[in-house]
Amino acid sequence: MLYKDNKRHKFSNINVFGSGELYNQIKPLLIQQHICIQNVFDDTIKDKKYDININRHLNNKEILYCVGYKNMINRYKRYKEIKNMGFSPISFISNKSIFSSESYVKNGSIINQGVIIDNFVSIGECVFVNIGSIISHHSVIQDNVFIAPGANIAGYVTVDEGSFIGINATIIDHINIGKYSLIAGGAVVIDDVPPYTMVAGNPAKVIKMLI
Ligand SMILES: CC(C)(COP(=O)(O)OP(=O)(O)OC[C@H]1O[C@@H](n2cnc3c(N)ncnc32)[C@H](O)[C@@H]1OP(=O)(O)O)[C@@H](O)C(=O)NCCC(=O)NCCS
Repeated sequence: MLYKDNKRHKFSNINVFGSGELYNQIKPLLIQQHICIQNVFDDTIKDKKYDININRHLNNKEILYCVGYKNMINRYKRYKEIKNMGFSPISFISNKSIFSSESYVKNGSIINQGVIIDNFVSIGECVFVNIGSIISHHSVIQDNVFIAPGANIAGYVTVDEGSFIGINATIIDHINIGKYSLIAGGAVVIDDVPPYTMVAGNPAKVIKMLI
């Protein structure tokens, strides 16, 4: 299901930005839901067809952002540039996920299969929530957060802009994850994480500062 401003929309054609692993993961879901992919753009492919700058004057401006987590700062920078070109990011919520009607998703985000979003959760722009993750009540996921498969986020957690939550990580309730932090796979986070910090282990400890 495609969403714009937290409301379901039936766009007949959409564009996609990013043709890598993430797109290959999401493409079958779009096809199953009869969503027609008009163009795929990708900075890493040197071909006019894939160049978003050349194709910026298209009539169809709806775009799904499928960029991975390798560089979270550039991920958000490119997202904002594409918006400034006049493209209009939309969100995709898999029909095999549970998304509470009491929760909210901004534009440009993707909620993959098997995800559970509990009541009163707020999901920002340009967020990716991968297979089987759970986000519990009253949690706030800020813009440009990437959540890997099977992460468990308890109630009243705040994940600040640009953070990455690794596979199978657990974050207990009322925790704040500072911006552009890295939570390693399998970490159990029981204390607030400062910005630009990598933590790992159970209980999670600071491994390194990222700036
Ligand atoms: C968080 C992460 C991205 C950081 O990677 P990185 O910056 O390359 O970190 P490094 O590999 O340099 O590791 C630094 C230290 O942390 C340790 N460490 C890394 N990941 C760890 C983990 N998940 N649990 C415990 N310790 C870990 C390393 O052993 C290393 O310790 P050392 O300095 O004693 O040798 C990576 O560790 C991780 O957990 N990735 C999860 C990937 C994932 O979720 N994939 C699915 C995406 S959809």
